Amino acid sequence: MEIKITKTQAPKAMPKESELGFGQYFSDHMFVMDYEAGKGWFNARIVPFGNISLHPASTVLHYGAEIFEGLKAYRTEDGRVQLFRPMENIKRLNTSAERMCLPTIDEGDALEILETFVRLEEKWVPKSFGTSLYLRPYMFGNDETLGVHTVHRATYMIIASPSGSYYKEGINPVKIMIENEDVRTVRGGTGYAKCGGNYAASTRAGERANKKGYSQVLWLDGVERKYIEEVGAMNVMFKINGEIITPELTGSILPGITRKSCIEVLKNLGYKVSERLLSIDELLEAMKAGKLEEAWGCGTAAVVSPIGRLMYQDVEYVINNEKIGEVTQKLYDILTGIQWGKIEDTYNWVHKL
Ligand code: PLP
Ligand code: COI
Repeated sequence: MEIKITKTQAPKAMPKESELGFGQYFSDHMFVMDYEAGKGWFNARIVPFGNISLHPASTVLHYGAEIFEGLKAYRTEDGRVQLFRPMENIKRLNTSAERMCLPTIDEGDALEILETFVRLEEKWVPKSFGTSLYLRPYMFGNDETLGVHTVHRATYMIIASPSGSYYKEGINPVKIMIENEDVRTVRGGTGYAKCGGNYAASTRAGERANKKGYSQVLWLDGVERKYIEEVGAMNVMFKINGEIITPELTGSILPGITRKSCIEVLKNLGYKVSERLLSIDELLEAMKAGKLEEAWGCGTAAVVSPIGRLMYQDVEYVINNEKIGEVTQKLYDILTGIQWGKIEDTYNWVHKL
């Protein structure tokens, strides 16, 4: 496919790698492509990073037709750049598009776009272990009318942000609040899609959690508020009495690529992994009986993040003395080892550029 490149005349300086944080800085360029029904995708271009202009009636501003993805470009010790399972993100982008009646993108084209963009922004991939260039592909509907219907016009973009760790705690255990008022999504809703609205609706509970000193919310299912679902920006796993349990994908949970990778790694290591319903009662019982051995979250931004404290209905439970558990540490070492090219990728997950 043809991608027109217009380079910036004012390249920016790379911020200090030790002060990156998450999603605060942006690279020099961005990718943009337009869609019109009957015409398909056209005008693929990489242009200097900057503001965009939208019609005031644009669909995304009124009816929230927006989806996104998140993946990272990693710098290996020999200076090369690699992606982690990018086709999984591309497939999920199209699943989300289908749910939100946005246009899908040919998988081959989507990969070529990613590769071309990351190659151009190569200098923005930081070098220190634990840092990466976070890539944010996203798509929104921009019909210039107020009717509620499938969009006829859309835009696909990618921006890139050199980032460090998502949580200020880094690899240290985070504190999570189990939410029992608001719900994130329901089965039949949009939970399995990565759409902006899921996150907008999550913010209120997230704010409540922050005020009480917790980093994020652990959601319960939207119907009975009984089953554990996932955390605001990561999937969850628990080790209870030797069994590793992660909520099954019932339609209201995001099918995380890190989750899928963790399951494969854990099974390969010989652990018993169950993808099943886990009720809050079962979890509380395990915590009270001292049988919850480890808990962690996993996601692209969050990587593998140990959970040190869980709070439910104002009662706080400490997990593994707020220390990183053995399995959590092993998973972290293997996943980050593969991602940053420190250990051999026996899974064929890495996509070298
Ligand atoms: N769940 C939610 C709600 C997320 O935002 C994310 C992050 O993308 C995840 C789970 C983890 O998904 P992945 O591992 O594909 O990044
Ligand atoms: C990611 O991990 O890529 C995410 O999308 C999480 C994000 C909401 C910060």
